[in-house]
Amino acid sequence: MPHTPQPTIELGVNIDHIATLRQARGTPYPDLLEAASLVEQAGAQAITIHLREDRRHIQDKDVYDIRKQCQGRMNLELAATDEMVGIACDVIPDDACVVPEKREELTTEGGLDVIGQFKRIKEATTRLAVQGIRVSLFIEPDIEQIRRVPDIGAPVIELHTGTYANASGDQQLRELERIKDATDFARDLGIQVNAGHGLDYANTAAIAAIAEIRELNIGHSIVSRAIFVGIHRATRQMLEIINEARGVK
Ligand code: PXP
Repeated sequence: MPHTPQPTIELGVNIDHIATLRQARGTPYPDLLEAASLVEQAGAQAITIHLREDRRHIQDKDVYDIRKQCQGRMNLELAATDEMVGIACDVIPDDACVVPEKREELTTEGGLDVIGQFKRIKEATTRLAVQGIRVSLFIEPDIEQIRRVPDIGAPVIELHTGTYANASGDQQLRELERIKDATDFARDLGIQVNAGHGLDYANTAAIAAIAEIRELNIGHSIVSRAIFVGIHRATRQMLEIINEARGVK
């Protein structure tokens, strides 16, 4: 299928761990809305948050508050449960990224099983899409999983870059190839490709250089750097890396 490579790439900053710090003490600070505002002022195109079933960081009120304040796009990550889909359909974020969720995990480990959980994911996708929310599925760079995405009806996938991020040397290069192949395959199916998880100031450029990837969602590394340089500067530094990798001035 003919295609035009996309020169632009967008950054969604996942600010969950600002809320992690706040929840650690039950204080009103650090203020999530102030963080979101600084991230947007720095030039990020989206604010990403994950309302987890156990409410370990983002709280329900945060989701509504961010919706009210957000000037750019709001991307809500959620499990395909009745409760979460109901909240998303009430809040109407611009984007909803459906993720697998296990209570005991430290962070989202692995992508959705689009094949095994087909019916549940399709039902959630349909409910969200009916509300005009653009649905993205968080999946591994696995051709067999991606092959089923058009039947689910989601226009976007976010490729899980965790295995790439945790690897090094030749293994990391092999993971990068897997992500490139998955991106090509999805593009040929007419699916928009985003990527995220475990991306930091050292490993992001190679992913951002893949011309068909349209958006990166990055959280932990940006919030960690923000401790030393502030979240505005930490966001700007990541934007510089991804724009330079893409040849955008
Ligand atoms: N994308 C998705 C779908 C995620 O679940 C997460 C983690 O919440 C991220 C991106 C961001 O990952 P990290 O915090 O490792 O940058």
